[in-house]
Amino acid sequence: MHNICGLDFGTSNTISTVYKDGKTVMVPFESNSKSLPSSVFFPFEEIDKPIYGDLATNTYVNNGYGRYMKSFKRILGTQFFEQGTALKPGTNIYFHDIIVNYLKHVKNTTEEFLGGETDYVVVGKPVRLSDKENGENSGIGQLESILKNVGYKNYSFLEEPIAAAYYHKDRIENKSLAIVADLGGGTCDFTIVEINENKKDLNILATSGVSLGGTDIDSNFALEVFFPELGYKTLDKFKGLTLPALPYRLASDWNKITTSLYTKKTEFLVRKMINNAKHKEKVIQLKSLIENKKAHSLLNQIEQTKIKLSETDILNFKSEFISNASLDISKSLLEDSIHTIVTKIIKTANDCCKLAGVNENAINYLILTGGTSKMPLVKQLFEETFYKAKLIENNAMDSVALGLLEKAKKDMNL
Ligand SMILES: Nc1ncnc2c1ncn2[C@@H]1O[C@H](COP(=O)(O)OP(=O)(O)OP(=O)(O)O)[C@@H](O)[C@H]1O
Ligand SMILES: [Mg+2]
Repeated sequence: MHNICGLDFGTSNTISTVYKDGKTVMVPFESNSKSLPSSVFFPFEEIDKPIYGDLATNTYVNNGYGRYMKSFKRILGTQFFEQGTALKPGTNIYFHDIIVNYLKHVKNTTEEFLGGETDYVVVGKPVRLSDKENGENSGIGQLESILKNVGYKNYSFLEEPIAAAYYHKDRIENKSLAIVADLGGGTCDFTIVEINENKKDLNILATSGVSLGGTDIDSNFALEVFFPELGYKTLDKFKGLTLPALPYRLASDWNKITTSLYTKKTEFLVRKMINNAKHKEKVIQLKSLIENKKAHSLLNQIEQTKIKLSETDILNFKSEFISNASLDISKSLLEDSIHTIVTKIIKTANDCCKLAGVNENAINYLILTGGTSKMPLVKQLFEETFYKAKLIENNAMDSVALGLLEKAKKDMNL
């Protein structure tokens, strides 16, 4: 066996690592990027030739005629996995096949780069992929079926935070304790590891995970800060009740946009809301967002605003989907809208300490990885919780993928 790989199939981004000419390398995807965003666009004129990553997003945002989807890893372990979705009338596709085709694209790109077939791949998995832990309908059972259909013959799984621990293990002193927090797009996962004297291996004391991440932060940010401009939480003109929340909830969730927003039922409800609304003009904008199938575009703009607010305290938001909107969005508006989520994430880290039987102040290293760890509020709360620990945060976007390859090398005695 000589072609070994690490595969970090993420909710937001996928990275493939290989061992080539004695070196660890991240496989370049479109535009030479080391990661491939987990998004797909099905052009209506060539529905059987989907395009992936940034190319998919750019085509959709620039009014490409077709169907766009993002964050489909989140479908694993849910009821939607077994269901099909209509790409256009008469063309159904199962989520299983969407993910298989996406990962086939990753495998093909990797093998072209390697110049040969993959002999062994270590694949990352969240600590909790679904409430149902095992069996063919569990998230992990579905992922196994996907990997087989993609064509991987030899594979093993490794929990994503443990992979990050492998990557960082040489930065940690002997006999010390580290918590690794992998805060991604779809899940936040933790492990507490002890470094053995000879650093040859890790002693895993506990793992914990929660199905919450950057995509949920996007949803809450959208609902609390932006969607009131589209009528969310505004009143009807008769009884003074707030309008139904359902269409807003669907429009704030990357997957529900795909599975449930663009239906006759939602369109009917929104038309009724327009008749009843005190601020009709706001809800009319929601109707046009749905009719033009532009909810992903607005959510993309909101996600980008979130990312920019990691570097700046305030910015001005303008969007063609919210008329007259020239909103000054401050970092504190974002932080107020996501407090509940961040509290749950920290609690899952506390649970990991409990499971490991260690106190937070006994942790020597706090290793932060994943895109969500770049949020100042998140980083600050973790540093306060593990106040005695030394912070390690380099290679936050790639450490899982690099660690998966470390594990593959170890398994193959390389
Ligand atoms: N600078 C930043 N500030 C805030 N959030 C960020 C930043 N950079 C990326 N993100 C968010 O991080 C998430 C993506 O992180 P990452 O690539 O680690 O996730 P993933 O590995 O695809 O997901 P998962 O591991 O949960 O399956 C997205 O929600 C993205 O919006
Ligand atoms: Mg990840």
